[in-house]
Amino acid sequence: MEQDDLVVTECTRCPALVESRSRIVNGVGPADAAILFVGEAPGQQEDADGEPFVGRSGKILDEVLRDHGLDRSVVRITNSVRCRPPDNRDPTATERANCRPYLDREIAAVDPAVVVTLGKVPSENLLDRSVAVTSEAGTVESVAIDDQVRDVMICVHPAATLYDRSQRGTFEQVIADAAELAGNPRSDQASLGEF
Ligand code: URA
Repeated sequence: MEQDDLVVTECTRCPALVESRSRIVNGVGPADAAILFVGEAPGQQEDADGEPFVGRSGKILDEVLRDHGLDRSVVRITNSVRCRPPDNRDPTATERANCRPYLDREIAAVDPAVVVTLGKVPSENLLDRSVAVTSEAGTVESVAIDDQVRDVMICVHPAATLYDRSQRGTFEQVIADAAELAGNPRSDQASLGEF
């Protein structure tokens, strides 16, 4: 294992993922972002580009962020597991546990005002209980992560809005709430654009 606070350069803890990945996909965004989004694991596009949420789910995330005055460049985006699982299956409990120290270290380094979990896998990973994301979306829970109590906000996965249009409103509401909780962080460009 090799990691500075934010970037894992080498890891072979999960044999199946070492086999299926073309690279380790680290988080992106400011190292001191007020909002940290945590997804599940890289998909095909993320594995190809080396960046989280750049495929279809990423387009939805970017669009809703923009609609709520949050440019992608002002938030940090990472995943529960940094390597693409074969056939985009869910990461196993062991794989999540193997990757968890990297996530915890990233959360500690970024020290965000709020951690937003995108979907069931990251929600259950961080809350350590079973989560019904659709009905619990928007809930904020105080969770001890690496001895520090963090506000974790449950959110549906952006891809859920593709399969069920009614989830779009839920997704937008959570993003709006997260922006408010984090003090509406703006990029310089976004704030200049208002004048
Ligand atoms: N879905 C995720 O959970 N993470 C990504 O990076 C892309 C899609």
